[in-house]
Amino acid sequence: MTQPPPEAHERRILGTELLWSFGVGVLIAATLSMIVFTALTRDINPPSNVERIDPKTLHLSGEFAEQNLGTTVGADGSVTVRVIATQFMFVPRCIAVPHGRPVTLRFAAPDVIHGLLITGTNVNTMVIPGFVAQVHTEFTRTGDLLMPCHEYCGLGHSGMWATVQVMPEGDFKPGQDGRVSCAQR
Ligand code: CUA
Repeated sequence: MTQPPPEAHERRILGTELLWSFGVGVLIAATLSMIVFTALTRDINPPSNVERIDPKTLHLSGEFAEQNLGTTVGADGSVTVRVIATQFMFVPRCIAVPHGRPVTLRFAAPDVIHGLLITGTNVNTMVIPGFVAQVHTEFTRTGDLLMPCHEYCGLGHSGMWATVQVMPEGDFKPGQDGRVSCAQR
């Protein structure tokens, strides 16, 4: 048996390496272009808000105290929703939002890591104790949407969900205190 000359051997190794690098390069390019594509066309981005909050005291005062939870319309017309994700419920259980207007959603957790998505929208985030999870969105359809917890958080995880009530602009009327609750039906 004759051995191939060492240079030929080297060339074959180099060829295989280049082939694999090309394949991996194509995969990375495909993944990156998918991320850029969904970011530009569908507003799907990883949440990037870094804001700390003390999980032990967030319910006592400040924006996540009980009386401040839910939907608030600011003096400038901006809509902000504050929700606590806790074992095993969202507070409040129903969230009222307007159709076709920018909405800022803010979430905090006092106990363990939760996650959530709102079906049919670009809202999808983790809620990690110690941080405020913030998502901006605009709801393009009226009606009720399901908001389940999507991070296993304990035995009651599968029963942890809330309703997002997307109201026609005419029905979305803040009270004296600038707050909006879900319509009772
Ligand atoms: Cu909260 Cu799963």
